[in-house]
Amino acid sequence: MIEQDFIPKSLKNTLDKGSFTWSTPSNIALVKYWGKKEHQIPENPSISFTLDACRTTTTLSFSRKDFNEHFSFEVFLDGKQKDDFKLKIETFFKHIDIYLPFLKNYHFKIETSNTFPHSSGIASSASGMSALALCLMSVERSSNEAEMTDEYFNQKASFLARLGSGSASRSIEGDLIVWGKHDKITGSSDLYGIKYPLEVHQNFKNYHDTILLVDKGEKQVSSTVGHKLMHGHPFAQERFTQAHHNLSRLIDVFKVGDLKTFIEIIESEALTLHAMMMTSLPYFVLMKPNTLEIINKIWSFRKEAGLHVCFTLDAGANVHVLYPESEAEKVFEFIQNELVAYCQNGHYICDRIGFGAKQL
Ligand code: DP6
Repeated sequence: MIEQDFIPKSLKNTLDKGSFTWSTPSNIALVKYWGKKEHQIPENPSISFTLDACRTTTTLSFSRKDFNEHFSFEVFLDGKQKDDFKLKIETFFKHIDIYLPFLKNYHFKIETSNTFPHSSGIASSASGMSALALCLMSVERSSNEAEMTDEYFNQKASFLARLGSGSASRSIEGDLIVWGKHDKITGSSDLYGIKYPLEVHQNFKNYHDTILLVDKGEKQVSSTVGHKLMHGHPFAQERFTQAHHNLSRLIDVFKVGDLKTFIEIIESEALTLHAMMMTSLPYFVLMKPNTLEIINKIWSFRKEAGLHVCFTLDAGANVHVLYPESEAEKVFEFIQNELVAYCQNGHYICDRIGFGAKQL
């Protein structure tokens, strides 16, 4: 598929009004996307576990208006008008207008809510943009139903979501999603996420992710700014090569169920992401003292208990604690006894690998 394949040839029977609701999950990257080219093309491929509990639900209501050059929409978060989201959505609409030519024919009401607290430090852009992209695809499908396969629907939803936020391209389906072209993964693309097509051992089914909320404050540096700092970064090329290599290594890890190597790759990816932040200009640090306390506790527990618990980080101070289903009971006990004390107000979220978006 190329960009042109996502421009509809014609739209028939467009509805006068209606509404669609989608619930979409967040995701956690194992090999990280950090650095992009123009038009939201990633510098390297990434792979993520789709989550289950951390979700956004969005209802998009639409009613026909006379066509003019302006987008017309209003946004509500938890029932309250949210004008500060408008700029991001206006920019998103501008980027996807060519692929959804009906956008200027409607007034839209976007009503959204998250299952995780707004101020948890968990990025809502992946689940939020993917939910909106799916609602818009439902509008397109309602006028084009006969011709649209589910495969095209999901691919275009991921393609549109990517134009809103890169990681959102990985929040349409589950349970393991690859976004970005990789030589050894057939069908992988810089334009949209695909379900990981190769063999995955039972060890990686039902994986747990307990998210420790270390710092719920606003980030000092947004991901969008962080991505830009990879331009001219002294270690950028090495990093992009490393991501390709780590994804190649994961192919074998997933096949044979090698938890030890999985841990090595996943923790190295998380620390490399933060090393890129610390070595960019301007440099910045998103980890907090408690992030490091938790990492050290995980390392000692892993050594003592001989279990396969590890961590990953996104662009913030919170820690995602990852562990297999077979060790869930013991690891969760450890989390409660030793790690929750480092969370802000003792807050954490129990999540696990999930299977993607649902239409409600
Ligand atoms: C560290 O997808 O939030 O979570 O494309 O600018 O919206 P934009 O960035 P975003 O970046 C995510 C960065 C990350 C790693 C990852 O999810 O792969």
